[in-house]
Amino acid sequence: MRKLSQISWLFWAGSFCWLACQSATKQTGEGIDVQVAVASDSLDAATGLVVDDELSVVVGNCTACHSAQLITQNRATREGWHSMIVWMQENHKLWDLGENEAVILDYLEEHYAPEAVGRRKNLENIEWYDLN
Ligand code: HEC
Repeated sequence: MRKLSQISWLFWAGSFCWLACQSATKQTGEGIDVQVAVASDSLDAATGLVVDDELSVVVGNCTACHSAQLITQNRATREGWHSMIVWMQENHKLWDLGENEAVILDYLEEHYAPEAVGRRKNLENIEWYDLN
């Protein structure tokens, strides 16, 4: 009986340490992320988009239907961004962007391009298909 209680004590102590370590690692990880974000571009507090001259045009046309996170989570070439715009126009009632299209593409190409380092070459000539 005594042995059993020792074992269960070890189990609880062990779980506690494990949990403590988990949360400690997580906190360090978040700290690093924040530093990287601050060190690179400055971000718009409301949307999380990179601040630049074209920001208001992008916010005005690209955050009416969904959160800006769909943009900040994505990376694509100019062609890739263009196909997403066409896809939304064909399937989700995105309006004709007129002269703003080039402005928006300049912005997306500059700030949300695929990262070159350590990645395979980007796919090109992707055949987009409807999801619905
Ligand atoms: C008229 C509404 C509307 C507007 C305006 C709009 N979108 Fe979308 N967009 C959508 C819908 C609907 C989806 C699909 C959402 C989902 O899958 O949950 C989408 C999805 C996306 C995605 C994800 C695509 C993928 O492959 O997962 C990105 C990126 C995106 N939009 C960027 C933009 C950009 C950039 C603009 C500005 C040019 C924009 N959106 C403006 C409706 C819109």
